[in-house]
Amino acid sequence: MNQKEIIRLLKDMSLDEKIGQLIQLSGEFFSANDISIGPIEKLGISKKMVDLTGSILNVVGAKETHEVQERQMQKQPHHIPVLFMSDVIYGYKTILPIPLGLGATWDLKNVRQAFVNAADEASAAGNHVAFAPMVDVVRDARWGRVLESPGEDPYLNARFAENMVNGLQENLKNKKGQAACVKHYAAYGAVEGGKEYNSVDMSISNLFQNYLPPYKAAVTAGSEMVMTSLTTLNGVPATASKALLSTILRQKWGFDGVIISDYASIFELIKHGFAANEIQASEEAINASVDIDMKSPCYANGLQPLVTNGQLDEEKIDQAVLRVLNLKNRLGLFEDPFYGASPEREAKSILTSSKRQLARKLSQESLVLLQNDNHVLPLNKEQKVVLIGPYASRKTLIGMWAIHGNPQDTITIADGMKRFIPDLKVYQGTDLQRSKKLLKNLGFLNEKEIAEAVSTPKQEQKNNQEALEAAKKADTVVLALGEETYEDGEAGSKTDLRLPKNQRQLIDQLANLGKKIILVLINGRPLVLNDIKDKVDAIIEAWFPGTEGGNAIADVLFGECNPSGRLTMEFPYSSAEEPLYYNHLSTGRPESNSQHKGRFVSKYLDCPSGALYPFGYGLSYCDVVYRSLQLSANEITSDQDIKVSINVTNTGKYSTTETVQLYFRDEVASVAQPVKRLINFKKVQLKPMEKKRVEFVLSLSELSFFDNTGNEKIEPGFFTIMVGPNSRDVSSARLYFAG
Ligand code: NOJ
Repeated sequence: MNQKEIIRLLKDMSLDEKIGQLIQLSGEFFSANDISIGPIEKLGISKKMVDLTGSILNVVGAKETHEVQERQMQKQPHHIPVLFMSDVIYGYKTILPIPLGLGATWDLKNVRQAFVNAADEASAAGNHVAFAPMVDVVRDARWGRVLESPGEDPYLNARFAENMVNGLQENLKNKKGQAACVKHYAAYGAVEGGKEYNSVDMSISNLFQNYLPPYKAAVTAGSEMVMTSLTTLNGVPATASKALLSTILRQKWGFDGVIISDYASIFELIKHGFAANEIQASEEAINASVDIDMKSPCYANGLQPLVTNGQLDEEKIDQAVLRVLNLKNRLGLFEDPFYGASPEREAKSILTSSKRQLARKLSQESLVLLQNDNHVLPLNKEQKVVLIGPYASRKTLIGMWAIHGNPQDTITIADGMKRFIPDLKVYQGTDLQRSKKLLKNLGFLNEKEIAEAVSTPKQEQKNNQEALEAAKKADTVVLALGEETYEDGEAGSKTDLRLPKNQRQLIDQLANLGKKIILVLINGRPLVLNDIKDKVDAIIEAWFPGTEGGNAIADVLFGECNPSGRLTMEFPYSSAEEPLYYNHLSTGRPESNSQHKGRFVSKYLDCPSGALYPFGYGLSYCDVVYRSLQLSANEITSDQDIKVSINVTNTGKYSTTETVQLYFRDEVASVAQPVKRLINFKKVQLKPMEKKRVEFVLSLSELSFFDNTGNEKIEPGFFTIMVGPNSRDVSSARLYFAG
């Protein structure tokens, strides 16, 4: 349709119909038999508004979406097609590593392509909008949702944001893409204490400099939609924040797409104590420019009385509806409400070998080698290797937010390793989690599942003994430990970042045998490994590595692929250090370089400062040496870029991929600046013994900061320019800007 026709349609719609376009409900309202009465009563909205609903959440599958679309369109007076939206966050059926693992790849190009693939699968299944990318900057490993984000760095998240959006939307025109919906706007990642749904409070400069850039990058890349955060920011819920939504997002950044609330977050304005009732909640949200109300009764019940009472100009509703209709139109739904989806295309699109191949590549690249004492890795096939641990042959490697993925499609670690050692012996050793209380708290398992998850003491002892006996006969133990799927992700906040006690005990028992131990970790957040690292020889952080995880892990273990992942979140010494992030401010009494000695510096008495494994850190099977950092000039101007270059030499015997990282510090500024900020990086391939000169072009605009009114500026003075393999081990040089 052209714009005129859309406007004509809008003019012809009743107020109820228009409001319907602004409502999103979930699948149970639209079941094949139309038994929606239960959910309707529970949510407290009328059957009429359900019939007029304009978008549907998490109904997937070509057949299902086709049937629901047909029924819904019949019910709508103007037969307007519904939008199907869903959480396709890191893959639809071919599940990629969790985004924290994707972050660790630093591989923008392949991540972009993987999002093209995800959208291809999901669109074939009739899905129009992906609730992705999730690019909240995450600095606190206690928060379970760190799993969903590329990590703690604003620059890197921004780069991932634009690539993920571009990937999802690349094939929109030919209906093989999905509209992106960047989330959660804004600053959800900064919830106090890492506690889920908690408040967020921060300075304006921190907000603009550290939290907004990834969302802005997604919007600039053309994200069709934005989802609000469930949280408050400085006392105002994001879902009703005129400052965030109308002023920054719409006016400053020029976003004209659809804003959707997060699940029930308009209704939750009441719980926040920001609105007295559904009507006021609707008024606040629509006035802040939220177009679609996800899964709450507010717009359905509240907008109509607001207009009738004269509290709300219908024009506001029209603007929101127009944005929704325009999105439907851009997707071509008025011409093809089924979006080219069919069971045949679906069957051909999902889990293809090329999609699996890319997932495997990303999974390989996401693995971070944290430790490799005496080059114990890679393994060779002649070694006597035994595989032990609750993750040895578990299929649940896809993580909490892969809601459409099927663990049955997953390659386990044992499957992967058996390609190299066909008669590999595999033992569970211990349970994944023995605390019934914690398993119950996860909220996803029923009594029976919990009972099955925790072995009887006798069985646990047997598992333990068998594993230890097998370990005695081996040279090397590959030990696959980690977190339960639902310990991470939404509502997965924890205060203890260590592995469960039973898993730590197994490490102790194996360490006493004096065998080589290769620890492979399956988990969704930085863990505390301080008390473990000296008991094992090597550690591979494998995250939830996705459908091809087992293959990727085996490829790295046996050296078929040299690990290249680099952490995008710091690993603390202790849980109590959180939030922990590399780009912190200096403090007036930094631990090193302070005029004060001994006690009176910024530190903990009982724990080292900073990270056990810092941001940007990761090993490979080769040592790469950095030498001779040089700046092409000592002074930078607005029209004269600087070249920053450094030699990197692979001293190892394998080809390797090195992620060369460029940081800077603004030494003196009117708002104190972080000790370091990432501004660029390059992934460099090095053959054995090869040396390369790596060069970055640096322009003045990259050295800016945000003040406490949200203005971006660059002040004259000195800047420290740093290059290195991670945020800790850097070479530095000084640069001057005269102003
Ligand atoms: C709530 C989550 O916060 C959000 O990330 C997700 O997209 C919606 N639920 C829909 O499932």
